[in-house]
Amino acid sequence: MSFPPARVKKQEILVVDDTPDNLRLLSAILTRRNYEVRKALNSQQALTSVKADAPDLILLDIKMPEVNGYEVCAALKQDPNTQDIPVIFISALDDALDKVRAFEVGGTDYITKPFQEAEVLVRIDNQLKIQDLQRQLKAQNQELSRSNQELDQFAHIVSHDLQQPLQSIMGYAKILTLQYPDLAQPPAKDHIDSILKAGDRMQKLVQNILNYAQVNQGQGHFTTVALDGVMEQVVSNLTDAIQACQAHITYSTLPPVHGDEIRLVQLFQNLVSNAIKFTDPKTPPQVTITAAAADPDHWHLAIQDNGIGIAAADLHRVFDSFQRLHDNDTYPGNGIGLATCKKIVENHGGQIWVESQPGQGTTFYLSLPPAMTDLTGDRP
Ligand SMILES: Nc1ncnc2c1ncn2[C@@H]1O[C@H](COP(=O)(O)OP(=O)(O)OP(=O)(O)O)[C@@H](O)[C@H]1O
Ligand SMILES: [Mg+2]
Repeated sequence: MSFPPARVKKQEILVVDDTPDNLRLLSAILTRRNYEVRKALNSQQALTSVKADAPDLILLDIKMPEVNGYEVCAALKQDPNTQDIPVIFISALDDALDKVRAFEVGGTDYITKPFQEAEVLVRIDNQLKIQDLQRQLKAQNQELSRSNQELDQFAHIVSHDLQQPLQSIMGYAKILTLQYPDLAQPPAKDHIDSILKAGDRMQKLVQNILNYAQVNQGQGHFTTVALDGVMEQVVSNLTDAIQACQAHITYSTLPPVHGDEIRLVQLFQNLVSNAIKFTDPKTPPQVTITAAAADPDHWHLAIQDNGIGIAAADLHRVFDSFQRLHDNDTYPGNGIGLATCKKIVENHGGQIWVESQPGQGTTFYLSLPPAMTDLTGDRP
């Protein structure tokens, strides 16, 4: 079976000029170059033509009666359906200020009359190439976020469905030792203990993957969240670990932020639990959380510890999932905590980064948006 050869669609250019001779000249040049040319003699015709069917590029005269080229361009840039169409201004006004204005209203390039044919063609070609690359980038980004979503969903389903059989394995292993006294003695007991220990680790891993995947599911519930309250919950959730290593956690008055409280507790809990975990067992952990106003749109939070620190060469990978710098016996974990923190902060429109001195301690920094109604008047 044979198919007819694919027809390549010609690129369409709308030429807008109130002088018919100019229109004819530009149209002839572009048609020779195999572009499809549409013409408009005034701003109204131009806007109607673009709205009816968006061209690939617009050549736009500046000086036109009633509505000038700048106003046409500004109107097109305000409409999401037409804002991505590249606009090249074409005008006799060879004035630096006019060129600046052309870019301010969203124009992508500027040609002065009298123009050289070669210059017009090169500038059009450039803009069309840029636009093509932008389209490809947009499509790739859409595809990437779609497949990321799919991956999150997959991780969520798998980890969720693993929980049930895992609980059965653990439950039956415990029943065995209770119902069959022989199995509660060595060597059977050692084997069953190993099953329970491995099961426990797997349960933590499954729960961590589930948390990680859940961060991107749904929109979250964004309100004004008092970070003092978040820290109170974190300290309460980590009571056992804090007592076990005699950690000292201090925080100054922390500001309210605009965020999702459940996620913010998760975020600070991961960071504080790391800060008390990655320490020399002989040194009780000292963890300090402080806030500073960075700019009108962000608070900067710092979580500082006196732990083992991170070598400069490893700093770049700690936020990647499943990246751990130690074996599981020295410092247990799955390497998902910081990847989850990064996702949470980015979902709040912020950033997270780290500075560290090996042997002295580590500080994690993050930016978060201020509360929309900051009753304390402490807004940055
Ligand atoms: N405060 C810290 N001080 C020193 N090293 C740290 C600190 N926080 C994180 N790290 C290093 O970064 C790695 C990644 O941290 P992350 O929280 O993602 O994993 P984890 O704590 O090992 O496991 P999980 O959080 O999933 O239980 C850690 O394994 C550790 O090597
Ligand atoms: Mg961790």
